[in-house]
Amino acid sequence: MPIQTLPTSPFHDQRPGTSGLRKKVTVFAQKHYLENFVQALFDVLPDASGLTLVVGGDGRYYNRVAVQTILRMAAAKGYARVLVGQGGILSTPAVSAVIRAYGASGGIVLSASHNPGGPDGDFGIKYNIGNGGPAPEKVTEAIFARSKELHEIRISDGADIALDVLGDTLLDGMQVSVIDSVATYAELMRTLFDFDAIRKLFASGFRLRYDAMNAVGGPYAKAILEGELGAPAGSVVNAVPLEDFGGLHPDPNPVNAEDLIGHMFAPDAPDMGAASDGDADRNMVVGRNFVVSPSDSLAVLAAHAKLVPGYAKGLAGVARSMPTSTAADRVAKSLGIPCFETPTGWKFFGNLLDADKVTLCGEESYGTGSNHVREKDGLWAVLFWINLVAASGKTVEALVRELWTEHGRCVYSRHDYEAIPTDKADTLMAGLRASLSSLPGTTVGGCAIALADDFAYTDPVDGSVSQKQGVRVILTDGSRVVFRLSGTGTEGATLRVYLERHEPDASRHDMEAQTALKPLVDLAETLAHIRALTGMEQPSVMT
Ligand code: G1P
Ligand code: ZN
Repeated sequence: MPIQTLPTSPFHDQRPGTSGLRKKVTVFAQKHYLENFVQALFDVLPDASGLTLVVGGDGRYYNRVAVQTILRMAAAKGYARVLVGQGGILSTPAVSAVIRAYGASGGIVLSASHNPGGPDGDFGIKYNIGNGGPAPEKVTEAIFARSKELHEIRISDGADIALDVLGDTLLDGMQVSVIDSVATYAELMRTLFDFDAIRKLFASGFRLRYDAMNAVGGPYAKAILEGELGAPAGSVVNAVPLEDFGGLHPDPNPVNAEDLIGHMFAPDAPDMGAASDGDADRNMVVGRNFVVSPSDSLAVLAAHAKLVPGYAKGLAGVARSMPTSTAADRVAKSLGIPCFETPTGWKFFGNLLDADKVTLCGEESYGTGSNHVREKDGLWAVLFWINLVAASGKTVEALVRELWTEHGRCVYSRHDYEAIPTDKADTLMAGLRASLSSLPGTTVGGCAIALADDFAYTDPVDGSVSQKQGVRVILTDGSRVVFRLSGTGTEGATLRVYLERHEPDASRHDMEAQTALKPLVDLAETLAHIRALTGMEQPSVMT
């Protein structure tokens, strides 16, 4: 029999987090570990006959092995067809684009995003549904429940598929189509942006440095920016996806992308710098001698969206995650469109996008996107910025300064405390939560507190309620300190402290973030006792 039923013992640690199941490669490599999760997924999904599934990943270590296993299990599940990116490669936004373009019933993304790769690094898997976006919580919870009880996996014993060769093969009656990893995505970008204007911009000498950080964004950026838009060869660097990202930490922020920052602050800096992360859904945009914060980036894109063909009719609304700065709210207000505040994590944007309530969305964590797919999209954001530069004739810095002049400046920083013992992190959050009701109306270290709560969100589309999405302390002048624990780390707990202060006078020169935010850092310490509870004197990362 080509389809085998193999006995197995269930695993109990397969609860997907905000971005799917992420574990060390060593955990995934245990016998039947990946199979257990995939079987749980397939058991939860309806009958697959006649349906198409998309499979692809960011090319990190274990990607190819996992793709072959998933193909065999998809054949056993009875899918009519699986579309797999060449070499097993598809960026996260490309998976979303392919699901939507082909009318697939869903897709499996293999990635641990920006987490380190390699044999000692991380691996991850998540399921996206037919709209192209991450499965909702009721689906991921059902997968988790099933993963703890299943005793059998079903898998074809067919041969490995030649993943590097474009074309179709049959695997136990299922059609496997190896597709070009970039083509569908590039086609979508052509419908959104003014490629002619961007070509002219590059032809006029505009210089870009795009650092793909040895991750999956490379092939996309090279094909589109250099191949199609005429950016000079070499504009895209670190463009070949490597299994261990060549040791880089492909999480674009000024700390991890320090080489790019070095180039952008050098005397002969290019006009614009950009970087994307492990699976190419995150982006960082840098001007010459000028770092753009992700919160400001979202606000600038919203303010000028009408300059871009795909958004020429204007925006239905914008959405930002709660810890993201309020810059987008200010722009939305001036445009007369709604701005939604959602919990952290891309999945909350999906319903708003599907219901046409918003067109653009973004997070402070270097994620920006729109209704073109149901994931954040790194290269899309970079193309949007280049299109704005081409259409407005303004530099990156000028576009941001204009935002500040019009709406004031949201001075912003995020402080991360990584690898804290989980019990310590829980104690810290519990202590904060217990103090919340006593804070409003008090003044702590000179900070007058107006509101303190644990953010809860009622989805305006389906009415579902998400509780405990982060502790917010809002001062009478609108400044905010937000505390939450990461849902994506794989080692202990990570505490994130988000700090925001609004400065109406854009011409002030003393707004270096860490200095300007010092009173809020002190407030955070007083309220949460971070040093005492974590034993850490400083955050591990400040962005
Ligand atoms: C982090 C970011 C969040 C983002 C997620 C997936 O999650 O903070 O904005 O949606 O990665 O890319 P966290 O680790 O904070 O739970
Ligand atoms: Zn990512």
